[in-house]
Amino acid sequence: MTTYITTPIYYVNAQPHLGHAYTTIVADTYSRFRRLSDDSVRFQTGTDEHGDKIAEAAEKEGVSPKEYVDRISAMFRDTWPTLDITPDNFIRTTDANHVATVQKILQDVYDKGDIYFDKYTGLYCTGCERFLTEKELVGGKCPDHLTVPDEITEENYFFRMSKYQQELLDHINANPEFITPERYRNEVLSFLSEPLEDLCISRPTSRLTWGIPLPFDDKFVTYVWFDALINYLTGIGYPDGELFEKYWNVAEHVIAKDILKPHAIYWPTMILSMGLPLYKKLHVHGYWNVDETKMSKSIGNVVRPAELVAEYGVDSLRYFTLREMSFGLDSSFSSDAIVTRKNSDLANDLGNLYSRSTAMLIKYTGGVVMAPVAGEDDTVLQDLAAAVVESYTENMADFQFHRALASIWELISLANKYIVSNEPWSLAKDPEREGRLHTVLYNLHETLRLLTLLLQPVMPGTCRKMALGLGLKEDDPLVTSLAAATWGGLPANTKLTKIDALFPRMESKKKKQQPQKQEKKQKKKVAKTESMEGLITFDQFQNLELRVAEIIAAEPIKKSDRLLKLTVKAPEERTIVAGIAEYYSPDSIVGKQVLIVANLKPVKLMGVESQGMVLAAKVEEDGESRLVLSTISAPVPAGSKVA
Ligand code: MSP
Repeated sequence: MTTYITTPIYYVNAQPHLGHAYTTIVADTYSRFRRLSDDSVRFQTGTDEHGDKIAEAAEKEGVSPKEYVDRISAMFRDTWPTLDITPDNFIRTTDANHVATVQKILQDVYDKGDIYFDKYTGLYCTGCERFLTEKELVGGKCPDHLTVPDEITEENYFFRMSKYQQELLDHINANPEFITPERYRNEVLSFLSEPLEDLCISRPTSRLTWGIPLPFDDKFVTYVWFDALINYLTGIGYPDGELFEKYWNVAEHVIAKDILKPHAIYWPTMILSMGLPLYKKLHVHGYWNVDETKMSKSIGNVVRPAELVAEYGVDSLRYFTLREMSFGLDSSFSSDAIVTRKNSDLANDLGNLYSRSTAMLIKYTGGVVMAPVAGEDDTVLQDLAAAVVESYTENMADFQFHRALASIWELISLANKYIVSNEPWSLAKDPEREGRLHTVLYNLHETLRLLTLLLQPVMPGTCRKMALGLGLKEDDPLVTSLAAATWGGLPANTKLTKIDALFPRMESKKKKQQPQKQEKKQKKKVAKTESMEGLITFDQFQNLELRVAEIIAAEPIKKSDRLLKLTVKAPEERTIVAGIAEYYSPDSIVGKQVLIVANLKPVKLMGVESQGMVLAAKVEEDGESRLVLSTISAPVPAGSKVA
């Protein structure tokens, strides 16, 4: 199979921000996913460098347009590698071959009779770089730029867009996948339910010189959209050449909703006039807001990719944007939201699964993956993995990245539970259960291999690390080809390599910035020094009431992977919520005697009131962190005081 995926070419009147980063991350992820399927892929991005807006921005800075576009275009080009985005082609509309292609197409369309000269009066929005219809205005203003458009009367060249209206309509009706998600297809069908006006495709040089001269009239330059859309053809060597032959009929464009009309109406009618087959698909996503507010320079809330990478890391950013946004709908960025995803999904779920599994293997078998033992096997992870691969493949192909990731996280969550329910540490103590231990560890590591493979398009850097940690080369087909996404690929006797923690935990900004808490901490520090370097008095100790409690029931708490609701006898019956679910299954702890702090003020955790706290040892070993419950060396009556 062959894939050609493009992003919009970005205007160079502003520096790259989260919105540009998202579209480009999407295209990069999709191209990597297609490569996993062994497709021959071409991924193109670039910059849109002509037109009023750019000329104005250059003038503001007091530099020539060329000097200006060279500088900003380089910023876009240099940003992508920092996000692990690897386009095959970066196109600039000031490139000589692009200028030549635009002029050739203009001449062809003109010769065909699809371009004519006429007088036009219209409402022009400089922000959109196009004439708006009365219908598009909201309260007399452009809805995107909130400015009143200028009424302009000009003699100009026009493209006969209306001539192709019916053909386009028929194509959209016959091909439901042409524009997705459906809401945008419906929006386009609604535009097309009214007669289309022809498109003004020139600007007189008396008003604008920063553009591509019309080949048939040098008193005009080309309207920036007619120039820009053609980049998708220039980038593959139109009109001839191997790349054009290979890639044009599989072209897929990714855009946001702001530029739906140029891509779904201008562009296809231009293509029809050129006599070419239409592109294959248009994928339209929603807008990123910041803290529920539109991102804008004037509000000062524009989020820059470089800052995000420095703060959260590349893969956390890639994961967050793809997991958080439902493709097609708007989404809101906030520092808290990304920290929460990073800590919970990446550090806790994925990071812990990886570090716990590999640390146990290193401890129990010297880091060698032993073959699973017949008769000791189970298919718990294998069954879910097969279902996940299937839904992942479907969802990634459909740009439903958040769904693909949600299904992967089901597997991660099950694998974490698999550790708890199989207690490899107990198996390791019993020589007769060695076969089962090897099987459990094999299953965990085979799951890690599949995760490395499936997550590769989303978090390429992390997956390179994960592959190396699993003792595989980063380009091993076992972690780079979907053909290997079946159970049992990890060869026995693979030797692990020790790697650092995948995702260090982060503090949420809110927490960091809470001055009261900071102050409290400071005060605590002072108090500590005053009480002789952290020593407490006997009176202070006596304030703490420690007791032996017997666990009589335990159950998981809905929506929490970490908490268990314990009913204990101490000696009265009380409820304690304990953060031990990742380490103990409910069944395994009923009947145990543990130590509790009995005189803590009750608190509500996930809606359940906790009347005390269970004591446990926190163990950090080989990059693995776990909790081991405290207990007493011989059974005693429940409720006995600990002094
Ligand atoms: N130059 C034109 C595109 C020509 S394509 C032949 C243009 N450039 S732009 O710099 O304004 O980029 C618009 C695109 O940037 C959007 O379609 C989207 O891909 C991305 N985004 C810009 N702001 C965005 C958000 N706030 N949220 C999500 N994506 C956004 O239009």
